[in-house]
Amino acid sequence: MPVRIVSIFGTRPEAIKMAPLVKRLEADPDVQSVVCVTGQHRSMLKQVLDLFGIVPAHDLEVMTANQSLNGLASRLFAGLDDILVAEQPDRVLVHGDTATSMAGALAAFHRRIPVGHVEAGLRTGNLMEPWPEEMNRRVVDVVSDLLFAPTASSKANLLAEALSGQVIVTGNTVIDALRLMCTRLDQDAPLREAIDARLPAIDPSLPLLLVTGHRRESFGDGFDHICAALATLAQTGKLQIVYPVHMNPNVRGPVLAALDNIPNVFLTAPLEYPDFVRLMQRASIVLTDSGGVQEEAPALGKPVLVMRDVTERPEALAAGTVRLVGTERDSIVRAVLELVDNEQERRAFARRVNPYGDGHASERIVAALTGKPFEAFPSDTLPGYRHPLFVLQGGTASM
Ligand code: UD1
Ligand code: UDP
Repeated sequence: MPVRIVSIFGTRPEAIKMAPLVKRLEADPDVQSVVCVTGQHRSMLKQVLDLFGIVPAHDLEVMTANQSLNGLASRLFAGLDDILVAEQPDRVLVHGDTATSMAGALAAFHRRIPVGHVEAGLRTGNLMEPWPEEMNRRVVDVVSDLLFAPTASSKANLLAEALSGQVIVTGNTVIDALRLMCTRLDQDAPLREAIDARLPAIDPSLPLLLVTGHRRESFGDGFDHICAALATLAQTGKLQIVYPVHMNPNVRGPVLAALDNIPNVFLTAPLEYPDFVRLMQRASIVLTDSGGVQEEAPALGKPVLVMRDVTERPEALAAGTVRLVGTERDSIVRAVLELVDNEQERRAFARRVNPYGDGHASERIVAALTGKPFEAFPSDTLPGYRHPLFVLQGGTASM
């Protein structure tokens, strides 16, 4: 009998990271795969589903404008329970640390359905940062019986908590998705040209700073400082900034108010995944608070400055491809200019070491779910992690 698996996800990054896994589940004769999207992100989610050709059996359409966490959680619990009762799955899969993951895992637990957590074990050790994600992922890990840890350090976090689930190190599925996208971009010159034509006019003589930011703990003062830093950087005339702005109104409002119409700053709507990957390939420096981008950009050999005080992704810090710069204006400006002014350092900083995956995480997860043999992802423990296990070079995927 095939194992009946309901995969639940609802935001853009979850969809990107679950897509390669869902495609493998759908292709495996030992699995009956059912996709339930919550619609926590309405438009940003749809872009990814269309890109990967994923047709959900259920769409809860829970998103409301400027949703509160409790309003969102209550809609998620109510909608998900009906689906679980109707589908009677053998297992539920959730991803990461969003409201959708937390509600999906708990709703399954309440119905005594086993839960597999993809991207388990990430921790900052600070419940307020990122908020509320550090709580969400802890809750999911407590109730999961299969914990798919991307790296050895996430495994170590889980073992230290003495949880009841089995821990399997798989690599991160984001590298599976990135590899698929880079291969497509490499092989499809018309697609590449079409994307380049859509991207803002980029002057090749100036370093390109790619910015993303959306963390809730930075709403208010944090975003004001980030915008002030970007305005100061643009005024130097030494670089150009491209910033695809997240749809959350608490992000869009202050960013558009502060940065619209500043020369050298190009604000765009959230980009479709192929366009964003292309922009990462073309960037000189990436400035971000995003989790996924912290994993992807090092795989493309880009220096990454992270606008946070702590990160749940220490591997790239140890590998030297990521630097924490906080959300203070001066420290952001200093760190960016250091790299802009020193091309040699920029190149040294981007050592093209990627500790997050080898592009085969989904295969391992499907093998574990269906009782087939597989080898765990060979990630070493920190500190001092240095093995270039998988490197994507300027768009070309190579092992
Ligand atoms: C959510 C996740 C965060 C994840 C991020 C990725 C939680 C609590 N937060 O934060 O962990 O890193 O997604 O992007 O789960 N909106 C739209 N259209 C969209 C998407 C969002 O208009 O397609 C707007 C809506 O007004 C919505 C708001 O953004 O209410 C906030 O969305 P929400 O998912 O609650 O928070 P994010 O900040 O996106
Ligand atoms: N991304 C995208 N378009 C954009 C910005 C980001 O496709 O305009 C992708 C990015 O490559 C990464 C993911 O979205 O895979 C990260 O999403 P986000 O920063 O919203 O969430 P986080 O990873 O912090 O949860």
